Amino acid sequence: MKTIRNLKGINVRGKYVLLRDDFNVQIVDGVITDTFRIDAALKTIKRLSKSGARVVICSHLGRPNGKRVPELSLRIVAEYLNIPFIDDCLSKDFLGTMKNGDVILLENLRFYSGEEKNEKSFAKKLADGFDVYVNDAFAVSHRKAASVVAITKYLPSYAGDLLNNEIEKLTNLLQNPKKPMVAYIGGAKIGTKINVLKKLVNIADKIVIGGAMGTTFNFALGLPVGNSLYEPEQINNVMKILKLAYKNNCEIFLPIDKGVGKKFDRNEKRINRDAGQIMDDDVIMDDGTKTTQRNIDLLCAAKTVMWNGTFGMAEWGKRWGYSSFEFAKHLAKFSKMKKLTSVVGGGDTVAAIDFCDVRSDMGYVSTGGGAFLEFIEGKTLPGIKALMK
Ligand code: 3PG
Repeated sequence: MKTIRNLKGINVRGKYVLLRDDFNVQIVDGVITDTFRIDAALKTIKRLSKSGARVVICSHLGRPNGKRVPELSLRIVAEYLNIPFIDDCLSKDFLGTMKNGDVILLENLRFYSGEEKNEKSFAKKLADGFDVYVNDAFAVSHRKAASVVAITKYLPSYAGDLLNNEIEKLTNLLQNPKKPMVAYIGGAKIGTKINVLKKLVNIADKIVIGGAMGTTFNFALGLPVGNSLYEPEQINNVMKILKLAYKNNCEIFLPIDKGVGKKFDRNEKRINRDAGQIMDDDVIMDDGTKTTQRNIDLLCAAKTVMWNGTFGMAEWGKRWGYSSFEFAKHLAKFSKMKKLTSVVGGGDTVAAIDFCDVRSDMGYVSTGGGAFLEFIEGKTLPGIKALMK
């Protein structure tokens, strides 16, 4: 079996280490609104620095499409980390000034188009002057980018602690979940989660489908959905998932009621309506109170819980985030009491647990969004494949 090369036993003292992190964080009005990914990367940064490496961190931020976009500069992250910043990721002049243990951050890799194109020439230039490459950017390891894949052709390459930990935790979830396992899947688009659901019906004992995805499932089963967000074109996929689940003895739970208004607006008055009673002019914006209680009740018998995707418009705050926040609080409580093992992933889902301030009570919170989903699907992520021996 192939294993991943990690830093164990590697002497980095005095070496120039190019460290790929994922500092793709949200910045609003010049303020980093969530430092989770940056904080999660600290372990490897400190470990390398303490071991005497000269650590040069590179990352992307947003999607500048190969152009220099000032709002997408990583300078703000360097300020947060209180480390020097180099405003061109291909600059090499500063290398000679570095001492053992120093840490520096480079400007956004995606200011060069070669990054997203996985261009060999860009990777070669990036690698120039370094002795070792470390990938600690799980969240971007599903992208075939030059600083994730091509770079490994030019430098001895290893996985950092964060990447190793993500692989270990998520592999454990897929291969050795304590039973019964319940997966909670929400969010808007079935298209992005079809393969995750196909995988999960083989692993989980129960799957709870909520949010706009739950609305699409209900629609496919002939229930009214009013004037809501759903995906009528996904009916065939819904039926395939239901059949697969039945074949695999995996129980599927759908929303039994919904929080509705008359306009898609965060200030709408919230009414709770049974799934069979949704009116033509109702707009569903959250799962209902009975569904939320049912979801919480299902936690009681679970030993492993995976959660990805909110159950409503949680980004609008309490009124339409009710089902996600109530669930988050209970999942955190059960996790803290060690009644179950929880694994949570995805940007919106992590934002919801942060809204309730319960991240530290969860069993494991992944830094990945798309990478988390692709890993759960069972794909070997290109960035991980490139580190295998
Ligand atoms: C993410 O936020 O999921 C990663 O940083 C990848 O970003 P991308 O979707 O812009 O490639």
